Amino acid sequence: MVNVGGFLQYKYAMTDAYNPDSRSEVRFILNAREVRLDSLAATDTLLDFLRLEARLTGTKEGCAEGDCGACTVLVGRRVGDGLIYEAVNACIRFLATVDLCHVVTIEHLRGQGDALHPVQAAMMRHHASQCGFCTPGIVMSLYGLWMCNPHPDRAAITTALQGNLCRCTGYAPIVRAAMDITADRTEDPLAVERQHILEQLNSLDDGRDVAVGDAFLPASVDGLNHVLSRHPDATIVAGATDVGLWVTKHLRPIGPSVFIGAIPELQRIDIADDRIRIGAGVTYSAFQSVISEKLPQLAAYWDRIGGAQVRNAGTIGGNIANGSPIGDTPPVLIALGAEITLNRGGKRRRLPLEAFFVDYGKQDRSAGEFLELIDIPLPGARLLAAEKISKRRDEDISAVAMGMTLLRDGERITEARIAFGGMAATPKRATAAEQAFEAEGWTEAGVAAAMTALAKDFAPISDMRASADYRAVVARNLLQRVWLNHSEAGT
Ligand code: FES
Ligand code: FES
Repeated sequence: MVNVGGFLQYKYAMTDAYNPDSRSEVRFILNAREVRLDSLAATDTLLDFLRLEARLTGTKEGCAEGDCGACTVLVGRRVGDGLIYEAVNACIRFLATVDLCHVVTIEHLRGQGDALHPVQAAMMRHHASQCGFCTPGIVMSLYGLWMCNPHPDRAAITTALQGNLCRCTGYAPIVRAAMDITADRTEDPLAVERQHILEQLNSLDDGRDVAVGDAFLPASVDGLNHVLSRHPDATIVAGATDVGLWVTKHLRPIGPSVFIGAIPELQRIDIADDRIRIGAGVTYSAFQSVISEKLPQLAAYWDRIGGAQVRNAGTIGGNIANGSPIGDTPPVLIALGAEITLNRGGKRRRLPLEAFFVDYGKQDRSAGEFLELIDIPLPGARLLAAEKISKRRDEDISAVAMGMTLLRDGERITEARIAFGGMAATPKRATAAEQAFEAEGWTEAGVAAAMTALAKDFAPISDMRASADYRAVVARNLLQRVWLNHSEAGT
């Protein structure tokens, strides 16, 4: 039964109690209220629920595709023994996936007594809002930032706002406001309430799989295999930063859908001396600490994946599994020699990532099979570089992306792995360029030979993001950029 102040009604009947022990309702906390939904569709978005059903219209809808940040809310989820809050785009967040989470909207913000929340007060002091349409989303993004970083510098602020568009105030006053949020974070309501919220979420969690309507939320890999054995062609959804648009832009049915974003085994990050193993549900943000510690060469590249809200929701596994030729992570993962593990009914097989991409829209994955693990070798002594060219610097998909690792012995290149996205129907290695490098070495002549050889590797197409000629030139220039960056630095 629906329970949000009586606003909601049944919309969809439950179609498949696939596991007799499964829970047949989605439970979460919305601001200060507990919500239980035993009727929803896989395609229901959090934003529609907030605006149309809960009537919390402070959260705005701009683009409905995760690009503008007007719909930003905070979602608190349990990690270890704690609760972390992350800014996400409610427009492409499926409602079912806030199960056992705390959803915080702009209506929940408050300061002491009747005062504004410190983030809102700073925005007001610095005249950081004009029409105000973007403002709730910007406040929520800054709130999320302030929670984990009370004194952010300009770089941290602009990174946090990558996913928020403001078209009339301009960012200067907004950044000034973000640098002037003055308050004691320990007195912030969400900090004060945190333990209570955590206990509430724990009490809602019965550890069971969830099946409501055409939405399934397995609680474990075994549960995932079980539901896929019943629905082998179900849409497997992790962060929904791509699948969300299938629904909001293409009005595509996705049910039955299996939401895997909260399966603990798929959240694992294991670090060994020479490699990292991650579960397919690890988000870009969760991987950030690994980037900082083990792959600092990718730090700038990682910041170019979507905006903060997208990185908080999107997963590396999803970026691989959807097979897009312009995904941000496959080129660099292929260059690193990543391997993936697929699981079907408990039977696992492992293959090099590059072998997964068969053709445009076709991956080496059978019905009922899912991507479970990604093994990423660390580069060790290899040069590692990643580059992305897109129309906008932030919050954009790539026209061309490149990953490269080179093992060098003086001027000799003993192993080259170069992969591109946006140059073919799949993410693909540039084997001719690799051979040219290995033949000619880490020299100006070697780079020139590799650049020329790219013409044998790729015949790119023209589309709305870039022309074929542009892509060919950019790809060559990216090789040269790596050479200039690293030869001048003597690395
Ligand atoms: Fe634009 Fe959600 S409405 S990001
Ligand atoms: Fe108008 Fe930002 S204040 S879009």
